[in-house]
Amino acid sequence: MTIATAPAKIILFGEHAVVYGRAAIAVPITHVQATATVQDEPPGSGCTIVAADLNSTARLADAASDDPLATAVRKTLARLAWDGPEPDVTITLRSTIPIASGMGSGAAVSTALVRALSAHLGTLLNDDIVSATVFEVEKLYHGTPSGIDNMVIAHARPLFFVRNKFIETFLLKVPLNMVIADTGIRSSTKAVVGDVRAAWEANPERYDNLFKAMGQISVMGRPALENGEHAALGALMDGNQWLLSQLGVSSSQVDRLVLAAQRAGAMGAKLSGAGRGGSVIALVNKETQNAVTEAMLQAGAKSVTLTVIS
Ligand code: MEV
Repeated sequence: MTIATAPAKIILFGEHAVVYGRAAIAVPITHVQATATVQDEPPGSGCTIVAADLNSTARLADAASDDPLATAVRKTLARLAWDGPEPDVTITLRSTIPIASGMGSGAAVSTALVRALSAHLGTLLNDDIVSATVFEVEKLYHGTPSGIDNMVIAHARPLFFVRNKFIETFLLKVPLNMVIADTGIRSSTKAVVGDVRAAWEANPERYDNLFKAMGQISVMGRPALENGEHAALGALMDGNQWLLSQLGVSSSQVDRLVLAAQRAGAMGAKLSGAGRGGSVIALVNKETQNAVTEAMLQAGAKSVTLTVIS
């Protein structure tokens, strides 16, 4: 039996702008994760995929061509240049990452699957190849992914990312205490990214300016992150949130949670991921973390978790 796990992610700076070639920063979140288990079955059984959380079982041979889990299996086999009959295995997937909440649940499940299956079949793929394989699956979820989700989840390290140009993992000198609140509103990345594209096409100058400013926030955010300048980071998060609301991807519930976090003493707060729901993140310290958690719950968050990013 082979088991692999993959973390969730949050985007600290630059979501949406990253699709348009601007810099973004993402970090892995390890208190929730996806797990894939692969076990052998008798010869001739073929490949079965079990999505344990969804109580669903499917045979690879019968799965639709756009089924994301089957696609992850097929892309992995293609990556391994597997030319025999399909492997006789059961692949079981589980995840504690909330779905459609901006935390990369789909990319994490695919990452765990690609890693576990390739290892079970005798090949350890490196992080870049795992990421590239998952990217193929991500295209199914939202047409024009930037690739930041699969990259940060495969590398499981803080990541500075410029699409097709520059990718670098880095280390934090001082860990970050972050509160992650789930608005409870599920949001389709594909739909929100599509709406932003339509708005950009209608008014390219305005939107290019917003994307540029977001990219500059990411560039300034990186040294602040690396050096543990948390007051600066918080201010940059607030600035990024304002730009995201100008982009039209915030929502009344996101705004409520951001305001509640700021009033309760968070150094900064913003949506994370595609927006219009999903997750709101707030930068806190030991003194403010309980008050911020309480305030976000009072403001209607479905759940609030404290996490340490290191
Ligand atoms: C999704 O986690 C982040 C977006 O920027 C989309 C992408 O980068 O592909 C909204």
